[in-house]
Amino acid sequence: MKQERILVTGGTGYIGSHTVVELQQAGYPVTIIDNLSNSNADVIDGIERITGIRPDFVEGDCTDIDTLRRLFETYPDIKGIINFAASKAVGESMHKPILYYRNNLNTLLNLLDLMGPAGVKGIVFSSSCTVYGEPDENPVTENAPIKKATSPYGNTKQISEEIITDVINAGAPFKSVILRYFNPVGAHSSAEIGELPNGVPQNLIPYLTQTAIGIRKELSVFGNDYNTPDGSCIRDYINVVDLAKAHVIAVERMLEDRSDAKIEIFNLGTGNGVSVLELIHTFEEATGVKVPHKIVGRRAGDIEKVWADPAYANEVLGWKAETPLADTMRSAWAWQCRLRERGIM
Ligand code: NAD
Ligand code: UFG
Repeated sequence: MKQERILVTGGTGYIGSHTVVELQQAGYPVTIIDNLSNSNADVIDGIERITGIRPDFVEGDCTDIDTLRRLFETYPDIKGIINFAASKAVGESMHKPILYYRNNLNTLLNLLDLMGPAGVKGIVFSSSCTVYGEPDENPVTENAPIKKATSPYGNTKQISEEIITDVINAGAPFKSVILRYFNPVGAHSSAEIGELPNGVPQNLIPYLTQTAIGIRKELSVFGNDYNTPDGSCIRDYINVVDLAKAHVIAVERMLEDRSDAKIEIFNLGTGNGVSVLELIHTFEEATGVKVPHKIVGRRAGDIEKVWADPAYANEVLGWKAETPLADTMRSAWAWQCRLRERGIM
């Protein structure tokens, strides 16, 4: 077991839980803080079943600075933070901007405020390819211009990146790695943990798997009149376990001072653009399960096409997305079937 403890905020959530598994398998002791606003404490059991180790869990809200202060006192061995805790539904953020700005920004500000005095060496921040908006060219490198955010959620990611940069440039005694995720999908290969959205899914894969299993009647494909080969939108779908592994590398990079830069930004994607119709086809081929679907009108605010140039992360982090999309689709389906077995969905 390593000496440095990692604090994972939002660690019972989708990407957080997969990252806790990878951290524990790499030998890090982990403390999770999560207010369970978008996840369930049962996830801890799933993590334990995979790794044989139960991570420490604090049920608490990161917007409450006293809760965080107590947490750092309880765990003086925390040396790295991975900050997943945030509200993440783009559509909801249009109706509840104050919730989004308050939750996402206060969480980050509290962590940045306390981590220096607590002796924490670095923070990994979950950003998004949403900061690029509709990119002028694909694949997108980290140097592509940041476009005006189209939602309060997207704006919290842009502002968060700026806050981290300002705090570090002001001489904060820690480093930061900002990770811009493309579209995380799939589940752990054990089907012990995965994505569990509340209510009707807004994202493609959970809607697709819920349709395949019969919870939803048919999947709506939002538009087939885009300027793409088959007319549907193109994204870069990255396996969630591959994504989780990048966080272990990023946190290690800061703890071991492997870079002179105090702040680094990486795109995390596969480098492959896949259309909605291609994705449905890949799922059907990989699982042998049909997905009833129909073409409907465009969804407001959707980007036409965006995919990553992951070369910088490949070279500098020594990280690469490895899982074939068909395997990722099988993992998403196995997770959906497990939820059915457990009577959850
Ligand atoms: P998620 O909702 O599954 O996980 C977030 C977790 O944070 C949840 O368990 C939630 O209960 C918790 N949380 C929220 N506010 C909190 C607070 N104030 N205090 C404590 N816990 C709190 O989301 P996810 O998909 O795992 O996303 C993780 C991070 O990655 C988020 O910052 C999200 O914005 C970012 N991100 C996600 C995607 C994606 O498509 N999933 C893409 C780009 C970036
Ligand atoms: N789509 C459908 N039908 C659906 C759901 C989605 O056709 O029922 C399409 C969308 O139009 C889009 C693609 O599937 O073309 C992917 O949509 P998602 O909602 O799964 O993902 P987005 O690319 O819109 O956004 C996601 C997250 C954002 C994050 C962004 C980049 O929701 O929070 O990825 O990381 F910012």
